[in-house]
Amino acid sequence: MQSQDIFDRGNWGSKLAFVFAASGSAIGLGSIWRFPIMVGLNGGAIFVLCYLLSVFFIGFTVLLAELTIGRHSQKNLVGAMILIKPGTPWKGVGYMGIITGVFILSYYSVVAGWAVGYFYKTITGAFRGEVTWQASDSLFRDFAADPLAVVICLFVIIVITTFVISKGVKGGIETWSKILMPVLFILIIILSIRAVTLPGSGTGLAFYLKPDFSAFNLNVLFYAVGQAFFSLSLGMGTMTVYGSYITKKENLVSSAGWVCFSTTLVALLAGIIIFPTLFHSLHLTPEQFKQEFEVSTGLMFQAFPIIISKMPGGYIFGILFFILLLIAALTSTISMLEVPTSYLVDEKKWNRTKAAVLIGTIAFLLGIPSALSNGGVNFLTKANFMVIMDLVFGNIMLALGGVLICLFLAYSWKVKNSLKEISIGSKRFKLKTLWTFNIKYLAPFAVILIIVFIVIKNIL
Ligand code: PHE
Repeated sequence: MQSQDIFDRGNWGSKLAFVFAASGSAIGLGSIWRFPIMVGLNGGAIFVLCYLLSVFFIGFTVLLAELTIGRHSQKNLVGAMILIKPGTPWKGVGYMGIITGVFILSYYSVVAGWAVGYFYKTITGAFRGEVTWQASDSLFRDFAADPLAVVICLFVIIVITTFVISKGVKGGIETWSKILMPVLFILIIILSIRAVTLPGSGTGLAFYLKPDFSAFNLNVLFYAVGQAFFSLSLGMGTMTVYGSYITKKENLVSSAGWVCFSTTLVALLAGIIIFPTLFHSLHLTPEQFKQEFEVSTGLMFQAFPIIISKMPGGYIFGILFFILLLIAALTSTISMLEVPTSYLVDEKKWNRTKAAVLIGTIAFLLGIPSALSNGGVNFLTKANFMVIMDLVFGNIMLALGGVLICLFLAYSWKVKNSLKEISIGSKRFKLKTLWTFNIKYLAPFAVILIIVFIVIKNIL
């Protein structure tokens, strides 16, 4: 893409191109790395169930809201709120999204950096031959605790992300994700078939897919809703910016549906790979898992080398998997950096490269404590710094942003105006009544209530 086009606000070539690009933002470490951790920490299948309900009732609602606001205004979230309701404090929601995005980018890039490290390790043959859980576990811990390695990997991610963003959002992402997302998807399907055919995979599958309703509590719901926001890139204006590139011809409703569907599918498959592999290698029962197993931020990195080592042609599979994971992560980091950059470019008339480099540098510096917190240097003696960042920004701030976007659309811009925008390009909107109810009542108030209860529970 020529730099000229950026200022002309180019459009996605077609609906398919948009769905691929938006799925590129959505599908990433959120589904493959974060989702299994959340499942492991929150009682297994009961979390999966709450997550699916959250995606359907809340995620889809907010995604369609963001896309509609974006396409209507042709702007980033700050610009959109200024355009739709000038002179009101609503633009603050956009600023909040920008700040949230920079923080998420900082620690997300650390994990993406681990994928760089693992890519290198796979090439140099670290996972050749049979890999046991113990070997994989100590390999991860040693790697994550190596301060120089993790900071260099973080730097690599930030540099690539900044480079792509400084060249403009459309061209790069569109071509990359069109080719590579389907390959990643096929690879994940192959790995999940291998995982479910491992001896002992049944207990892992039962933990993952057979809900234990007695394990349900408010925390499970809180993390499930947070995961829905995180995995669909909602609540900070990413999907608003992406929506601003959709043409009026496209069907917003089905685009949103496809993004939800593909992201959820990848997350579900990631779990199908990880839990059977884990239970197979450790010979655990679900009860032992809940009581004895310590779910760490490295869960995915501990489990994947094992399953890869059990594949015929595992060396090639491993290389392919980590490179694709890296690209999936990069399409997400790119979408995060696009939020502050498009704000500075559109609203403040900054030069795109200058904006991207400045925000990239801030994210890199903010990422260092997260990079060092997994065994390197303990910043906060008791808790892992990265986990706290993820709780505050990845869960709470995204959910709050999502609530405010719902309230803005429903009570300030008004549902009937947004429906006019939606109806351009989608003549029949079958879920209109349900969506209207969700955006006005269910999504904002359920999420507010959950956050309030969690805060009260933890503070009092
Ligand atoms: N949805 C992305 C993922 O799952 C992460 C993301 C969150 C991207 C918020 C943009 C905004 O990997």
